[in-house]
Amino acid sequence: MSSLPRCLYVKEILGCLATSRIIEIDENSEKYFVMEELRPILKTMSITANLLTFCNQRKDDIIELLDINGPNGYCVHSKTGLVLFLGYCVHSKTGFGGVLTARRERDIDSLIQIELFQDTPDLKDKLESGLSYVEYGSGEGAVILEMAKRFPKSQFTAVDYSTDAISVLQQKILDQNLTNVQGIHGDLHDLPSDWSEKYDVAYIRDVIHDVGDPVKATNEIVRSVKRGGVVSITEVAIKGSNQREQRDDPVAPQFYLYSTCICVPESLNQPGGVGLGCTSGQEKMSKILMEGGIPKDSLEMYFKSAQNIVRYVYRK
Ligand SMILES: C[S@@+](CC[C@H](N)C(=O)[O-])C[C@H]1O[C@@H](n2cnc3c(N)ncnc32)[C@H](O)[C@@H]1O
Repeated sequence: MSSLPRCLYVKEILGCLATSRIIEIDENSEKYFVMEELRPILKTMSITANLLTFCNQRKDDIIELLDINGPNGYCVHSKTGLVLFLGYCVHSKTGFGGVLTARRERDIDSLIQIELFQDTPDLKDKLESGLSYVEYGSGEGAVILEMAKRFPKSQFTAVDYSTDAISVLQQKILDQNLTNVQGIHGDLHDLPSDWSEKYDVAYIRDVIHDVGDPVKATNEIVRSVKRGGVVSITEVAIKGSNQREQRDDPVAPQFYLYSTCICVPESLNQPGGVGLGCTSGQEKMSKILMEGGIPKDSLEMYFKSAQNIVRYVYRK
């Protein structure tokens, strides 16, 4: 039994504790320690209330993952119940997909503007005239369904690994009488062989760090886009590429929590299982995208600090 998956979880958990300053990183070594003055506070647990609340909801799952004989990961859509969003525990009857959908729908206008049109304004005119658009890892389709409504002359395809998410999406397509969008169950590591140069636009949001093999997935995404087409990848991001740099970023602890409980288990549950997590940073992600076939000179990067995202664009 390999100890690598366990190490990846421990790295994320330590990152969460270090960036929230619950533990400190020794200046001369990579060792962690708890500051003397923090010890009494930690005993009363007031500073860790949010963290503990969340971990408590997921404790059985996490204990199972950390057990040397436990599973390496799990599919996040299969875990219903309580999940953490922006520091709050939200009851979700529909599970992970339902919470994500509610969150995307809340900011859908600015999300579409910032993640699709801000740096590629020509895309809007093209969508209005009609083109073929695919979203990989669409979840239950909050973004693609809105795009299909706004651009009736274009044809939209949503692909997701989760059969549950795709079933919900297909039902929404029927309920909303949309005729220019379809939902397909599929794996980014292995898209159909006849999808080479099939789409004008591929949009991927908050997915690459979740897949088992991000390089292979990028390769497949690039293959599926036509020459002259656009690959638009949004990845969540915190500034800095290591925990020491990230320590003072107030959102960093949340990202390490998501990574521990959502992203790393999802990736480790898939073939390849690199367990990248959502905290790896822009430098590592851009390397992966280049290894996956996006030429260095053609990789555009837009860091949007207010949204904690990086948008990667490749005009093929
Ligand atoms: C964090 S969610 C993001 C969902 C959606 N893009 C959004 O931003 O609301 C990641 C999604 O990627 C999907 N996914 C993970 N691995 C995948 C794979 N190998 N192929 C296709 N989809 C995958 C998951 O099922 C999940 O719906």
